[in-house]
Amino acid sequence: MPRAPTCCGTAFAEYPAFFALPAEDRNGGDVLGALMASPLFSTTNAGVGLYVTDLWVAAATRGYELGRRLLAAALEEADKEWTVRFLELAVYQDNAKARTFYDRLGFSQFADEIFLTLKGPALENLRKTQ
Ligand SMILES: CC(C)(COP(=O)(O)OP(=O)(O)OC[C@H]1O[C@@H](n2cnc3c(N)ncnc32)[C@H](O)[C@@H]1OP(=O)(O)O)[C@@H](O)C(=O)NCCC(=O)NCCS
Repeated sequence: MPRAPTCCGTAFAEYPAFFALPAEDRNGGDVLGALMASPLFSTTNAGVGLYVTDLWVAAATRGYELGRRLLAAALEEADKEWTVRFLELAVYQDNAKARTFYDRLGFSQFADEIFLTLKGPALENLRKTQ
């Protein structure tokens, strides 16, 4: 059975862009899973949330609730700094297994919200704005 995830705390900047949690094998120290997340603020949700950018569990270790425990550990870690009011993440349309996993935890989709991304040349154009 894998051991509970521990925080490695990655961010060395004054305002860290993210933190990472590895889940390691109790015996060998092999990495069996990992999560990366960043804080985000939402006026709609009246507080700080946690955006989970990455969640991964090694194939042989899936189904032992390590994914759930990584999410819980991230919440515990973030709660040390902020009172987290919500978790947010994106899942690919064709990732039905992950979708089942998130549905079971109680994640829900906001159909009336569309997430937009600005990057590449469009971002550079905005950066040049005087
Ligand atoms: C999705 C994921 C993080 C779940 O982690 P986990 O530790 O297996 O999750 P749990 O043990 O808490 O929950 C198991 C449930 O997750 C779902 N699941 C998703 N992918 C699975 C897989 N490859 N094998 C087994 N269960 C999987 C199932 O609903 C499963 O329930 P079941 O055992 O009744 O079928 C993990 O399967 C994974 O890393 N998948 C590949 C990467 C990925 O898709 N990440 C999410 C990106 S948004």
